[in-house]
Amino acid sequence: MRPPTEDRRRPMTRDEIIRWLVEQDSEALGSLWRRADEVRREHVGDAVHLRGLVEISNHCVRRCAYCGISVNNREIVRYRMTPDEIMECVRQAVALAYGTVVLQAGEDYGIGREWLTDLVRRIKTESALAVTLSLGERPDEDLAAWREAGADRYLLRFETSDAALYERIHPSLPGRSSTRFAILRRLAELGYEVGSGVMIGIPGQTYGSLADDLKTFAEMDLDMIGVGPYLPHPATPLGRGGLPEAPPGEQVPNSELMTYKVVALARLVDPDANIPSTTALATLNLKDGRELGLARGANVVMPNLTPTKYRALYEIYPDKACIREAAAQCGTCLSGRIEGMGRTVGEGPGGRRHS
Ligand code: 5AD
Ligand code: FES
Repeated sequence: MRPPTEDRRRPMTRDEIIRWLVEQDSEALGSLWRRADEVRREHVGDAVHLRGLVEISNHCVRRCAYCGISVNNREIVRYRMTPDEIMECVRQAVALAYGTVVLQAGEDYGIGREWLTDLVRRIKTESALAVTLSLGERPDEDLAAWREAGADRYLLRFETSDAALYERIHPSLPGRSSTRFAILRRLAELGYEVGSGVMIGIPGQTYGSLADDLKTFAEMDLDMIGVGPYLPHPATPLGRGGLPEAPPGEQVPNSELMTYKVVALARLVDPDANIPSTTALATLNLKDGRELGLARGANVVMPNLTPTKYRALYEIYPDKACIREAAAQCGTCLSGRIEGMGRTVGEGPGGRRHS
C-alpha cells in the first residue's frame, strides 16, 4: 500500500485512515512509525516536555460507564487535596524542573470557582509553571474565572465522536445540554490552549468512528491530543460487559498496537500538536510502552506528582502504572527513558508551536 502521507500537502482521507487502522503488515507499519517520527521531529523537535500531574480530587458527579471514580462506585474512599498539599506538589514540580503542572479531578463541585481561582493565582505567583486544568465539564463562568486567574491550558477529551456511543457511555446530567464540543470551542475563545482526545477500543467503537475521531482532531486544530486504550474497570457497567461490541471485523481492539497507530496518525493529521505518551499506554506495556509512544509520534509525558497516599484512590482504571512510585521516582524514571532514546528533556512551559 502506498503510504497515505506521501503527498504531504494533501490531508489524509477517512478511507486512508481506516486502511492504516486495519493494517497488519509490519513493514507497512514500520513506514507509518517512521513517518510519524519524522513529522514529530520536523514540527515539534526532539524535546520531550514533562507535565507534572496532580490528581487533586477523586470526587465526581458523573456516571460515565467506563470510569472507576464515577459517583456510582461506592466502594472507593473519596479525597480532595488541600491547597497546601497541592502547593507542595507544585514545589516538587519546580524542583524536578518540570515546565507545567496539570491539575486533574473528577467533575467535583467541591472544587469551587473561588477556591480554584485562588489556587491558580498562588501557583502563578509562586512559580513560572504553566497551569493546565482537567476538571470536567464546568460552567462557562468557572472556565472564564480560571483563565482570568492565569490558567494556560484545559484538557477535556471528547472520548468518541460517535454521538450515539458517547451518550451510552456518558449519560448527561439532568438539565445540562451543552456538549463537550461546545465547551471545547468556548475554551479556545477564552484563550486556553485546548487539549482533547479519545479512548481506543470502547465496546461498540468501529474503525469508521475512530477514523472520524482522527478527522475531528485535524478539523479542530487541537493544541494537545491525548489518546489511550480503554481499560475495563470491574466496578463499572462497561467493565462488567454492559455494552455490546461492534460486529466482527468492525470493533476496534483496545490494544497496544492500535494505540500506537492512533498516536502516529494523530501526529500526521495535526503535526504541531503536543501529544503525550500516556499512562494508559504504559499500563499495557510497562517495559517500553512510554518509549514506543514517544518513538511513534508523541512528544510529551505526564509524570505523576500526586502524593502516594492518594494515588491508588484515583483509580479510573485498574493496575494503573506508577501507583506506588513517589513523585521523584517517576521524574527520574522518565528523564532516564527520554535520554536513553537520544531525546532531550524539554525546558520551560512547552506550549503549542504554530508552523
Ligand atoms: N480506561 C481508559 N481510560 C479511561 N479514562 C477514564 N476511564 C478510563 C478507562 N476505564 C480516561 C478518559 C478520561 C481520562 C481522564 O481518562 O478518556 O477523559
Ligand atoms: Fe513512574 Fe516510571 S514514570 S516509575
